Amino acid sequence: MAEVKLVNIKKVYPFSGEKEKKRKKRDQAPEEKKSNLQVTEEGVVAVQEFNLDIANKEFIVLVGPSGCGKSTTLRMVAGLESISGGELYIDGELMNAVAPKERDIAMVFQNYALYPHMSVYDNMAFSLKLKHLPKAEIDQKVRQAAEILDITQYLNRKPKALSGGQRQRVAIGRAIVRAPKVMLMDEPLSNLDAKLRNEMRAEIIKLRERIDTTFIYVTHDQTEAMTLGDRIVVMKDGYIQQIGTPQEVYNHPANLFVAGFIGMPVMNFYDAKLVREGDRYFVEVCGYRVELSAEKEERLAAKNVGTQEITLGVRPDHTDLTDEGIACKVDVTEMMGASAHLHASVDGRDVIVIVSTQGMKKIPQRGDEIHISFDGDVAHVFSKEDGKNLEF
Ligand SMILES: Nc1ncnc2c1ncn2[C@@H]1O[C@H](COP(=O)(O)OP(=O)(O)O)[C@@H](O)[C@H]1O
Ligand SMILES: [Mg+2]
Repeated sequence: MAEVKLVNIKKVYPFSGEKEKKRKKRDQAPEEKKSNLQVTEEGVVAVQEFNLDIANKEFIVLVGPSGCGKSTTLRMVAGLESISGGELYIDGELMNAVAPKERDIAMVFQNYALYPHMSVYDNMAFSLKLKHLPKAEIDQKVRQAAEILDITQYLNRKPKALSGGQRQRVAIGRAIVRAPKVMLMDEPLSNLDAKLRNEMRAEIIKLRERIDTTFIYVTHDQTEAMTLGDRIVVMKDGYIQQIGTPQEVYNHPANLFVAGFIGMPVMNFYDAKLVREGDRYFVEVCGYRVELSAEKEERLAAKNVGTQEITLGVRPDHTDLTDEGIACKVDVTEMMGASAHLHASVDGRDVIVIVSTQGMKKIPQRGDEIHISFDGDVAHVFSKEDGKNLEF
């Protein structure tokens, strides 16, 4: 267990000769540029201005699309990647120049990285043997970890005789026998099928109750982030977009990117107008008027936000079918069982409404006209200029 502090951390991957040539070529054809990472004379800036204080025993999840710098950040904490700028502290001690094996950190990877020729037992005992611990102590630690992860019956098997889920348990077991101060996990569930992934997610929740360790967990999956994290760090293009509890990030997304990335199905967006009258605010969208909640009005007034065109965001879960409201036609109906997802088009934008099918006589189908509405406490107002949530 440990506190981890990242202060203005930056990572620049210098160009190799080959890449520099490619870059020059690509810069002549800018439309080929794939990511929005900053490119400087020094190289590609994979992470920058990364500031985060992680409390003892906290479970932090770094989440964001592929290439946003999650693994790079984790690898800098592990010491597998040099830190180009800023400071990394573990329990108050500057770690920038400390070798990986001196950092008291364990890491679990997506591809398990087990030793194929060793039994499960030996895989788990390996790091303890390197430390020359007494045999009895090693045995006790391996068996205890195996017990926690429910893999005792496989201790004599080789990794190839195990399923993907079992192998990942061994990889986790190998990390926890060392009782590391910090446990780093890089997309540990990504190679598993959906059902196993759900099971292992629950296992990890139980695991963190049973071991005294600070966790930093990387995933591109917002569900994993929401279910596992005490706090989540949403990243994009090498920058932190928002840090908060899952609830905070879900209820108060800092900008359009976070709003669209967190939550399933994706938040609906509308072109709308925010209107201020004194200290009262409402939103006009497709001729429909929504009064904002008092809490939102207070925040907007405190920031002196004025009348302006906005992007309005409302989650599908918070959107209702009503007799009045915005009129639109159903394009597609997805029957999910207890609920149905109705896709409709509003002003050229795809909008999803989740309706409970219970007691509903007829679920609206393609071509049917519906009316949708929502309350002012679930309406998010984003600046048209920079996509920032105007409440922040
Ligand atoms: N060893 C490397 N050399 C050069 N660029 C790299 C290297 N590793 C990662 N990158 C680049 O840094 C960016 C962030 O990568 P990464 O941290 O792996 O993202 P994520 O884990 O979020 O998918 C990407 O654009 C990637 O191409
Ligand atoms: Mg990665």
